[in-house]
Amino acid sequence: MITMLFQKDYFMASLTVRQLDERLKKLLRLRAARNGRSVEDEVRTILRQAADEAGHDELEAFTPPAQQARASRGEPARPQAKRVLLIIGGGIAAYKSLDLIRRLKERGLAVRCILTKAAEQFVTPLAAGAIVGERVFADLFDPAHEFDVGHIRLAREADLIVVAPATADLMAKIAAGLASDLATAVLLAASSKVLLAPAMNPLMWANKATQRNVAQLAADGFAFVGPNEGEMAEAGERGLGRMAEPLEIAGQVSKLLTQAGAPLQGKRVLVTSGPTHEPIDPVRYIANRSSGKQGHAIAAAAAQAGADVTLISGPVDVPDPPGVRTVHVETAREMLQAVERALPADVAIFAAAVADWRVANAGAQKIKKAAGQATPALSLVENPDILSTIAHRASERPQLVIGFAAETENVAANAKAKLAAKGCDWILANDVSPQTGIMGGDRNTIELVTATGVEPWPPQSKEDVAHMLIARLADALKENP
Ligand code: CTP
Repeated sequence: MITMLFQKDYFMASLTVRQLDERLKKLLRLRAARNGRSVEDEVRTILRQAADEAGHDELEAFTPPAQQARASRGEPARPQAKRVLLIIGGGIAAYKSLDLIRRLKERGLAVRCILTKAAEQFVTPLAAGAIVGERVFADLFDPAHEFDVGHIRLAREADLIVVAPATADLMAKIAAGLASDLATAVLLAASSKVLLAPAMNPLMWANKATQRNVAQLAADGFAFVGPNEGEMAEAGERGLGRMAEPLEIAGQVSKLLTQAGAPLQGKRVLVTSGPTHEPIDPVRYIANRSSGKQGHAIAAAAAQAGADVTLISGPVDVPDPPGVRTVHVETAREMLQAVERALPADVAIFAAAVADWRVANAGAQKIKKAAGQATPALSLVENPDILSTIAHRASERPQLVIGFAAETENVAANAKAKLAAKGCDWILANDVSPQTGIMGGDRNTIELVTATGVEPWPPQSKEDVAHMLIARLADALKENP
């Protein structure tokens, strides 16, 4: 039964009652008839009981087998559909909300719906439920449905709440903090962003009381779309008060959801990645085994988190990450120049394995070997230290400067010394001894060294290291904006 519940949550989109075998179907119908419930509600009740038996904590901690397998292969979890809770208020514009449900679902969003009592005068729960694909919620206390999810869960299980139409009455209640029905109770318990699409007669919209409520709601962090100017339902009436069109509301929903899941929105992030090639002559160069996988994964994760990312990459075989401005360079000196050009940035992450030395006088022509001649001696000079240069800048120093430490012994101790010498804020230390397979490989084991201590991270894929780092630095920026 538990498995069934998990199947429902994660896979049952494709499993319907029709697909059950005949005997099970009959039993289900019998149970439903005995309990005076629809078959669908009966299934929900059974699943609900199973969940209660398992305990909600166990349920929250459960990872479905397919997701476990992906994690063990080091693949990131597949993103779940974002959840929108649509509250339909009681106004003539409610009929447009049925189209809004369709528009939201077209965007791959999971939609739940609450109808206020007044809304039921304009659209029926049956019509809204048919488009949503599940029953709509109407009552704060719903004795008819044993599978009542409750207002707290409805509020918690939404990434965004949309109120459309938001009537003058509903907005006044929300502004006052009332919880007199399911819609207002959910809104009072909500921690997610709320988007209001007001719709009312222009005189009601212009009324001082409404404007006071709108100002209060905006100050409380509510987002608005509309109202628009245009024809009213009442014959001959025009003005400001028409509900925004469903497409306009759906566009605003997408925008707000992107912002909600984008902790680095508005931040500029600079990343270096890969090796550098230091020429000996036009055909030969000094290089190292860096693949660029870690630095590129960090740039990609930062972009996914909404940052404006510039990646300065040495010569690598990995593709440019999507949504990232990538600058290709060869040598350490070119890399430093490109980094300085990319400033200012809020965060700079130096993942490149920069060659410490270059050949003092690289030949303009290919060095030829000739019989009886001594082998050429290469004289080396030190390259600029890019990380140290940026960390010690007097102007335009990024708020957070993060380096890597590639070590083959005394990893944490050497990394601590590097943190101090280079003047950076964090160092991600890793053991690049050949037996670890980290250099050029797909996995990494990091110790995060900061001014306050050393934190070992578990062995994981380079993508997971990237996401962990981005989450950490997003938190750090939030604490010190
Ligand atoms: N780094 C840099 N410029 C250099 C050398 C290193 O920006 N010329 C950065 C690397 O990107 C990394 C950090 O400095 O973030 C440490 O690099 P690492 O190779 O571990 O150390 P080195 O400074 O080269 O010192 P050593 O080779 O002695 O360990």
